[in-house]
Amino acid sequence: MSSFTLHAHAKINLFLHVGDKRADGFHALQSLVAFTKASDELSFAPEVGLSLAIEGPFGAGLSCGEDNLIIKAAQCLSRDRGAAIRLTKNLPVASGIGGGSADCAAALRGLSRLWGLASDTAVLQKIGESLGSDVPVCIARQPQWMEGRGEIVTPLPGLPAIAIVLVNPGVGVPTGKVFGALKERRGVGLPLPPVFASAGDLVAYLKDTSNDLEAPARLIAPEINSVLEAIAGEGALLARMSGSGATCFGLFASDDDAARAATAMEARNPGWWVAASHLMA
Ligand code: C5P
Repeated sequence: MSSFTLHAHAKINLFLHVGDKRADGFHALQSLVAFTKASDELSFAPEVGLSLAIEGPFGAGLSCGEDNLIIKAAQCLSRDRGAAIRLTKNLPVASGIGGGSADCAAALRGLSRLWGLASDTAVLQKIGESLGSDVPVCIARQPQWMEGRGEIVTPLPGLPAIAIVLVNPGVGVPTGKVFGALKERRGVGLPLPPVFASAGDLVAYLKDTSNDLEAPARLIAPEINSVLEAIAGEGALLARMSGSGATCFGLFASDDDAARAATAMEARNPGWWVAASHLMA
C-alpha cells in the first residue's frame, strides 16, 4: 500500500442541547452536527514502527506521544503494526470544532485502510467511543443527529448548501470546565429534524434551538462575546458558538457575503483565526 492523505474536517454543532448528567459523569446531549470544508490533513505511509510528526499553523506545542489521540487510535486498532503518520494542523486546538476528535477519526479510517483491516463505519465508531465523545460523529463526516453522550449518531439526509464563516479568538476552552459551569439547559426531547428544502428553512429551524454551552463558555472566555457580536454585525443569518467553544460560526446568505465578512473580521482582529467555508452536504 502506498502513502495517501485524508482530510479531518471541522465539526460544527449547528445546535447543541444538554440534558441531565448521567451516572457515568457525562451529560446527555442532542445536537445537529455537520462538517465544513476547513480541515486538518493526515498522511499515512507504510513503516515498520509507529510514528507521528506534526506540522502546520496550529501544530506547535502538540504532543506526538502516547497522549495524542492519533497514537491512541492506532493502539486501539493494533499494538504491533507500524505507520508513519504526518498531521498538518490547520484548525485551532481545544476550540469546539472537534479538531482532535476529527484527527482521531481520520486516524482510525486511515490506519484501517493502510493495514487492510475490514473495519466498517459502525466498527470504527464503536472504537472511537472509547477515545472521546465527539469521535464517533467524526467518522462519517456527513450531517448527523447526535445523542447519548455523543456516541449515538444517526445519518441525516443532506443539508442545503450554505456558506459558513468560522471564527476563533485564540483562546482554548477546556470542554470539562464548560460543562462544569453549565446552569441553564434545554434538555434532550427534540424529534429528528425535518428535511430542509432550503437554507432559509434550515436557519429558521436553528433559530428555535441553541447551544446550551454558549453561556458557560462566555463566562470562562469573554472573548466569545466579541466574536459573536462581530459575526452578527457582518450580517450573518445566524451567529452561534460550536461545541464547548471558543470557535463560533456565522451562516451567510451567499459565498460573497461570507468572504466579505471573513475579510472584514480578519482585518479588524489580527489575532483571530477566521475561515470562510461551506457546510458539506
Ligand atoms: O469525551 P470528551 O473527552 O470530549 O469529554 C471531555 C469532558 O467533557 C468530559 O470529561 C466531561 O466532563 C465533559 N462532557 C460531558 N458530557 C458529554 C461530553 C463531555 O459532561 N456528553
